[in-house]
Amino acid sequence: PELWGLVSQTCNGRSQSPVNIVTRKVLPDERLTPFHFTGYKETFYGSLINNGHSVQLNLPSSIQIKGGNLVDEYKAIQFHLHWGKDGGLGSEHTIDGEKFPMEMHIVHIKEEYDSLAEASKDSTGVAVLGFFFQESESANEKYDHLISALKYISQPKTNVTLVGVSLDMFIPSEINRTKYFRYKGSLTTPDCAEAVVWTLFESTIPLSRNQLTAFSQLLFYDGQKMVNNYRPVQPLNGREVYYSSGQLALVSCVLFTKSVLLSSASFI
Ligand SMILES: *[C@@H]1O[C@H](CO)[C@@H](O)[C@H](O)[C@H]1NC(C)=O
Ligand SMILES: *[C@@H]1O[C@H](CO)[C@@H](O)[C@H](O)[C@H]1NC(C)=O
Ligand SMILES: [Zn+2]
Repeated sequence: PELWGLVSQTCNGRSQSPVNIVTRKVLPDERLTPFHFTGYKETFYGSLINNGHSVQLNLPSSIQIKGGNLVDEYKAIQFHLHWGKDGGLGSEHTIDGEKFPMEMHIVHIKEEYDSLAEASKDSTGVAVLGFFFQESESANEKYDHLISALKYISQPKTNVTLVGVSLDMFIPSEINRTKYFRYKGSLTTPDCAEAVVWTLFESTIPLSRNQLTAFSQLLFYDGQKMVNNYRPVQPLNGREVYYSSGQLALVSCVLFTKSVLLSSASFI
């Protein structure tokens, strides 16, 4: 789409995101210890915004992370989602070539910065926590509030306030946030700054097919249906992907049960 056409020149660096993670090539790294999460349990008022290419929830800067071999403390600014069409596959990262129906990115920047633009000039200025979604039989009630608010923001550049939400509601419990992949990459939207320490968790978030489909009611900046708002995978160009534990045994059964083999990734 236009978003990519206009600016693709700035997005052809050698450490771009997303990537495909090949699990038999990941390197176990003992330094990838559990994170220390601050403010993830606190309730807040947040603006839920149709920003023209995704739905974004603005987060208070009292939400912070450290540990997990991050070089610094990072504060949250927002989370947003990438999805497919009418509940179909639409994650950005893939695992062994397999795509998931949706992917959440919780964007954090180093404490010392005031904006994503400022943090983007530092090669480790941004820390994104990524979670994959998996289709479940039953609805995930913790998402009812967010999903029922989508109808108010179908038009680009509109927002609605979510009251009484916490970040913990939207992601796997803390006990399930210890297994993750780590690599150095970029923002996946222009200007694709190579400033991101990526963390992708093994544990997935369940949503029913109807809940996943609800995101397709949003409209892009150009008035088209907001579907397939993901960037295709980019070459690793020799980058390593690390894993927080020596045991990858769980991955194949927990993470990939409902995924379908990705055919050929062609963006929107
Ligand atoms: C939400 O929309 C209102 C009305 O258009 C606007 O004034 C406000 O700046 C928006 N808030 C955010 C966080 O985008
Ligand atoms: C989360 O952790 C609990 C307790 O260890 C476990 O029983 C459950 O299966 C985990 N859930 C996922 C989705 O990994
Ligand atoms: Zn993203």
